[in-house]
Amino acid sequence: MKHLIDIKDFTTEEIDDILLLAENIIEHPDDYSEVCRRKKLATLFFEPSTRTRLSFEAAMLELGGSVLGFSEAQSSSASKGESVSDTVKTVSCYADIIAMRHPKEGAPLLASQRSCVPIINAGDGGHNHPTQTLTDLLTLKRELGKLSGLTIGLCGDLKFGRTVHSLVSAMCNYEDIKLIFISPEELSLPAYVKSELAKHQNVSWRESGSMEEELPSLDAIYMTRVQRERFFNEEDYLRLKDSFILDMEKVGLMKEDAIIMHPLPRVNEISVKVDDDKRACYFRQVSNGKYVRMALIKTLLEVQ
Ligand code: CP
Repeated sequence: MKHLIDIKDFTTEEIDDILLLAENIIEHPDDYSEVCRRKKLATLFFEPSTRTRLSFEAAMLELGGSVLGFSEAQSSSASKGESVSDTVKTVSCYADIIAMRHPKEGAPLLASQRSCVPIINAGDGGHNHPTQTLTDLLTLKRELGKLSGLTIGLCGDLKFGRTVHSLVSAMCNYEDIKLIFISPEELSLPAYVKSELAKHQNVSWRESGSMEEELPSLDAIYMTRVQRERFFNEEDYLRLKDSFILDMEKVGLMKEDAIIMHPLPRVNEISVKVDDDKRACYFRQVSNGKYVRMALIKTLLEVQ
């Protein structure tokens, strides 16, 4: 039985297989409409979500399966003090696969050690978000036609932004990658992610404090929201929240064939006017999320 807790749980070949499968599902959705018949997905969301939870649910429904679950800790017995272990042991009696989001880093890993069905990490605190990364990889591949030889700028809250941590880890699988980390110093990439980068000769990286200087050289800019819910005090959040805003003037500095990504939700960091630019692909990214989760569910359930 295989879980997806960290993107490193999958080899490069396994990731590429999921992306290929997702592309095949996009081309031939009818071929997959019954593959999860009689299978159930449980979505255990101890933290808010729009895209991840609903795309998981849509994915399972489009594979012919069913869904159950909860969308906030308050509506589960966690509110009465039940542990993650007991919750997961219980739910694995009802469902064939579980997608879990939890504010505590490591909670999905603990769940995977107690569960008798596959666990998918749908985001754990400020740590990891591997299914967003599969979504991001599919988006890069479909929009730019490749995953190697890319220069990607990652901008915003790189400290708490779990999607960034998982994406950086995944890009280490590919050749000739340049990563440029653009953030306020207080929200820079955690040391443990930098240590991982240091093990990979195929990835070069540097930090920058200027979007304007970096935008002209990028194939993709990956914008992120400053994660208000992870801050210890509101003052710091208010001081840092608008550090980097991508508006049409800055988009004008980008290459014509570059792309603008964002895991969403967006607050203020991309001007709404940018949405109409052909380089803005964050809503196409949302759509890719459903297909990649269909591919992931099918793969983990080992159904034909
Ligand atoms: N990208 C993402 O995880 O969005 P949600 O928080 O809406 O699930």
